[in-house]
Amino acid sequence: MELLSELGAIQAEYGFLPTGELKALSSKTGMHIGEILSAASFYSFFTLEPDAEDHIEKLYPCRKAGMLLIPKLPYEWTALENARKAPETIIEAVGEAGLLGRSGGGFPVARKWSVTKNASGREKYIVCNADEGELFTGKDRILIEKNPWAVVEGMAVCAEATGAKKGFIYLRGEYEDLAETLKKAVSEAPLDNRFDIEIYMGHGAYVCGDETALLNSLEGKRGETRLKPPYPGVSGYMGCPTVVNNVESFACVSAILNMGPDVFRSTGMPDYPGTKLYTVCGAVRSPGVYEYPSGISIGELLEAAGGAETPIQAVLVGGGSCKLAGPDCLDVVMTPGNCMAHGLSFGTGSVCFIGAEENLVGFVRGLTEFFMRESCGSCTPCRVGLRRLAELMKKFEAGKAWPEDLDRLGALACHIRDNSRCPLGQAAVTPVLSLIDRFPEVMQCL
Ligand SMILES: Cc1cc2nc3c(=O)[nH]c(=O)nc-3n(C[C@H](O)[C@H](O)[C@H](O)COP(=O)(O)O)c2cc1C
Ligand code: SF4
Repeated sequence: MELLSELGAIQAEYGFLPTGELKALSSKTGMHIGEILSAASFYSFFTLEPDAEDHIEKLYPCRKAGMLLIPKLPYEWTALENARKAPETIIEAVGEAGLLGRSGGGFPVARKWSVTKNASGREKYIVCNADEGELFTGKDRILIEKNPWAVVEGMAVCAEATGAKKGFIYLRGEYEDLAETLKKAVSEAPLDNRFDIEIYMGHGAYVCGDETALLNSLEGKRGETRLKPPYPGVSGYMGCPTVVNNVESFACVSAILNMGPDVFRSTGMPDYPGTKLYTVCGAVRSPGVYEYPSGISIGELLEAAGGAETPIQAVLVGGGSCKLAGPDCLDVVMTPGNCMAHGLSFGTGSVCFIGAEENLVGFVRGLTEFFMRESCGSCTPCRVGLRRLAELMKKFEAGKAWPEDLDRLGALACHIRDNSRCPLGQAAVTPVLSLIDRFPEVMQCL
């Protein structure tokens, strides 16, 4: 058993990591106790004192289901059957369907799979990224609850296409109640000893959603990001070619091989085919996850969620590491290309409405503090910079900022964005920069 699993088992048994158990683990594995503590200290779920917190998180109910969230039961595994009939055409079909990754990056899924298929390696691996750490996002949780079969099936189809024999589902620690659901779906899948899937629990570190940090974590190490290239497609888990895709991306693959690429392609917008799971939250009457053909506007999502409870002063589009927009963004159609054309990020497809009574500076300060806590600490601009940025934001929130603080805030945010080693630090300041740019009236100075 590798280190993080051993620590997970100890934490589960005692509710914390007793020193005696860590010493015993050190003797058993031959690892220095410092090395064990270094790995354990990276993850917020591991505690050296008894931990009374309940980490299970169920924030957003399912409000509207479509082809991804409504499985035809009993599940017939037709997509996998179709894939096995003509494995050489799978990647072509996914390409023809125009499937773009659903994590936020929008990378073409077929292109990623081709890289791994053509890469040489002693083994190949498939990883389903179910870490879902982005703030204001709950779509992957709902998808696993409603249709775990499609996720498992999409992974098995990917294995047929690339030649992988082993897969992992890296499941967000806060979603541990879903592990049984996934295990059951895996046990029901006709994998026929051709492919094996293991559920791997995350231990509470946001940065582990990044594919390279996730791979380090999966290998039992501290979840620090790796420099790219090499990309996981050629050198991923244990240095072997590895496909990493989001939960929703795998479920889309299952839909494509079931209904045919043409039907998928003609659903939603041409530049982002298929349906999309949108998380709608904040000052709305019915927050939750809504599945619509891609291309619904922000205003239509607001309407679907029962409308606003109070006048809207701002909208955070894409998730906690994305940009704020003014209330005039309601006509923006939610696809990655369209968001970009309007100076926004599509992110995970989440839309958080911020009511007029909310202190916008305090809201963004809260986001900054989240990223500050989640910084892995290995580079100074992110580790120290985010702390200073949060302090400056507090000054504005308290009405104690001087005019020169506004320049310092902007300059520091740009410094963090431009000098952080990984996307966490680079993106963490996005809400602050959009606040300064689009809401100058709330940045009051003495
Ligand atoms: C800081 C950070 C956190 C991320 N968190 C997630 C996550 O929780 N889930 C996810 O699927 N992708 C996440 N990603 C993106 C992954 O690195 C990777 O691109 C993705 O899993 C690929 O899936 P896709 O191609 O199917 O979209 C994150 C990236 C960064 C930089
Ligand atoms: S930017 Fe640097 S400190 Fe921040 S998470 Fe990435 S590597 Fe760690």
